[in-house]
Amino acid sequence: MTRTKIWRLYEKADKEGALREAAQIIKNGGTVAFPTETVYGLGADGLSKEAVGRIFAAKGRPADNPLILHIADKQDLSGLVEKVPVQAEQLMEKFWPGPLTIIFKKQAHVSDAVTAALDTVAVRMPANEIARAFIRLCETPLAAPSANISGKPSPTEAAAVLADLNGKIEGLLDGGKTQLGLESTVVDCTGAVPALLRPGSITAEQLEELVAIKASGPLTGDKAPRAPGMKYHHYAPEAPLYVLDRGFPKDEIGVFCLDAMKKGLKVGCIADADTLDRLPEGTLSRGGWQDDKTPVLLAQNLYSWLRAFDEQRADLIIAQAVPATGLGAAIMNRLSKAAQEKTILTKEDLEKIFRTPAKDLC
Ligand code: TXA
Ligand code: MG
Repeated sequence: MTRTKIWRLYEKADKEGALREAAQIIKNGGTVAFPTETVYGLGADGLSKEAVGRIFAAKGRPADNPLILHIADKQDLSGLVEKVPVQAEQLMEKFWPGPLTIIFKKQAHVSDAVTAALDTVAVRMPANEIARAFIRLCETPLAAPSANISGKPSPTEAAAVLADLNGKIEGLLDGGKTQLGLESTVVDCTGAVPALLRPGSITAEQLEELVAIKASGPLTGDKAPRAPGMKYHHYAPEAPLYVLDRGFPKDEIGVFCLDAMKKGLKVGCIADADTLDRLPEGTLSRGGWQDDKTPVLLAQNLYSWLRAFDEQRADLIIAQAVPATGLGAAIMNRLSKAAQEKTILTKEDLEKIFRTPAKDLC
């Protein structure tokens, strides 16, 4: 057990001093969680195999899932990658700093511990000012996956980091709630045509305005999945989660919740404003977005809502699907992984599941 030191940056007059202390932990080979504009990352010296090993240990992360190296300035890229392809150059020009991770051919010295023995490395330059100031003070690229126990929803606030990693990491820079709420978009620029490996806040549509983008092939079942992390059970709350197809009638959702409550089950429901209005009192409800074309609110809060349902001991969670375009593509990607691909089309399907004993639902 390690004592996790917490710096609440918004209460501190001397932010720089706090960042320096935290950076010293990194220089000594330790792990510090820090905010980015997407989710909190768990940072360690990306050039030290031992330090990187501590990230995997704290998270319980499978060793074959590579990490992203975070840099503060574009010039820091040249010491990590073999070359910068022209499309990567264009993407960096437009979207760095920001929620875009780019995969490059790596230089030989970049450790297999970071890249899971791939000959490529993922690099990102975050927009969050705390993150960049911190990385600069660490004077090394920071390897940083999301700061959660492997498989759990990513943390979008310091309390979620602590819930998973208190006592397992040396430090936590608390910078408040993250702005975007979903992990970065990942684009592989090592082939002739860049491939979108993980959708995020920078949408496929935005990328395609600049460069041709190929949709990635199946991410699971391959011998070597292109974004290895995507093959794992991910982002999942304790309670089983079901995604309701867009055609699922809104009124039926309220009826379902009422039936479930009568049977003593706690149902967590994530839905738009219109649907929440129709839910019976007592339902654990979250959501309430108005414009279903740009569900920014859902992206920002999805992970904290899933975690909140766990804290409230929900027996099952239902979430309304959103159109899988723009930011919606990233939301649906995370939702369907959290639901282990369980999408419910009709009320009858939902009722069938609901009659199954809770222990068999997971
Ligand atoms: O927004 C984010 O990206 C956050 C913050 C902290 O920066 N980080 C994050 O890291 O989400 P992580 O480790 O949870 O997700 C990294 C993803 C995984 O799916 C991993 O398999 C993939 O990037 N990845 C990393 N290196 C790769 C590589 N060389 N080739 C293909 N995929 C790679
Ligand atoms: Mg993660």
